[in-house]
Amino acid sequence: MNMKSQAQELQTYLSQYTLMWNDEIMNDYPESISKYPRDWLNLLDNLSESELYAVDCKQVVEKIKDSTLEKFMNQAIELSKLPVIKEIPEIPLEDWAFNGVKKKKRHEIQKIVPVLKNIKDIKNFEYVVDIGGGVGHLSRVLSHYHCIPSISLDRDPHFQKIGFERLSKYRKIEGSRDVRFVNIAFGEKADEENLKNIFMPKAFSLGLHTCGPLSNVVIQKSIDYKITGLLNFGCCYHRLNPETDYPLSNYYKENHFLKFNLFSLCLATRSHAEMSFSDYRTKERVKSYRYALHLFLMTYFNNKFCTEVGECHVRTYWEPFANYIKNKLTELNIEHTFTDEDFNLFYEDPKIQKKLRVMWLCNIIRWQLGRVLEVYLLLDRCLYLEEQGFEVKIEQYFQEALSPRNIGILALLKN
Ligand SMILES: C[S@@+](CC[C@H](N)C(=O)[O-])C[C@H]1O[C@@H](n2cnc3c(N)ncnc32)[C@H](O)[C@@H]1O
Repeated sequence: MNMKSQAQELQTYLSQYTLMWNDEIMNDYPESISKYPRDWLNLLDNLSESELYAVDCKQVVEKIKDSTLEKFMNQAIELSKLPVIKEIPEIPLEDWAFNGVKKKKRHEIQKIVPVLKNIKDIKNFEYVVDIGGGVGHLSRVLSHYHCIPSISLDRDPHFQKIGFERLSKYRKIEGSRDVRFVNIAFGEKADEENLKNIFMPKAFSLGLHTCGPLSNVVIQKSIDYKITGLLNFGCCYHRLNPETDYPLSNYYKENHFLKFNLFSLCLATRSHAEMSFSDYRTKERVKSYRYALHLFLMTYFNNKFCTEVGECHVRTYWEPFANYIKNKLTELNIEHTFTDEDFNLFYEDPKIQKKLRVMWLCNIIRWQLGRVLEVYLLLDRCLYLEEQGFEVKIEQYFQEALSPRNIGILALLKN
């Protein structure tokens, strides 16, 4: 399917469920629940814990076969499917080349490097600029072991110092090239002159998990400086400004694109990580305490909308509810005279437990839409690059279990 058709189909699909992805379940509860079909909730309510786990992992289980819920789930999977990168054999490297590199990063590097080598053969760029390169593992592997010169660019001098000091500790091979660490804040006016000296047509732009709006800035600068090409992996979409950072393409702007808000961007960011059963149980427990806090605030403090609260240690969620809520009320500067017993009785009340169950089931349904939103958002970036004269591919690069933000946009400037 071409990118425009896929975007169009995603749009048609998503517009049927706007009320679900555009809002948090806690907002305007209990009206929010009415956005979820009753028969879907009933179907889910009859599933065992392991079946619900499977559904949360986007698997259709026997008991929901032939239902509209199954159709909803299958469409989400089908429409957000992307081609997986062509399996270019990984270039074998000794373990010492990855000393101190986490499994996730090693996997990402091993997937990206062969693709970059291929592009270098075709486009013959001179060097790679790794934007937000952190400690520079990717640049090091590229330059030391694959003889592609690289610049690791980051605004954080601390990461760069660690990376620079480590360089000499790794063995090199014959023909290895240099890694340069450049400390600038990409996209900031004060650093523009420095950027001009490296971001040139002979460079190739790489961004592995350029957070939120940084991806947009990288895309725009790559266009402005007529760079050979770019390979970009976005992440942290909740950091985007939904008013100014999206959409980019004329195609979306002219075709009644779907508007996002912070809730939808959070959903696009969080979903799609592969999860063990024990992770699932923790996730359910975290949500249960979070929703119970909300119901408590609604009941006793007349609070109808989702209040932002910080995270707490996982172990807190396996302690009595009173411990969790007391911390949260303190964080929120809410004075009260409730006892631990009051809190625990509130949580254990069967009526509250029933409400929490329904909220959790709604969350499972809403969760199905995360990847769909992410793909819809990224297709806009692709179409923008196409409009600016690039040949563009969007593909899945990494194994979901190792690196869930695994969608790469590869754009090469047409001659
Ligand atoms: C999510 S980390 C990714 C690090 C590395 N690419 C990786 O995959 O491990 C994002 C990095 O981008 C850097 N960064 C964020 N905004 C930046 C900017 N405007 N200019 C340069 N670096 C930036 C941060 O300091 C951080 O090291």
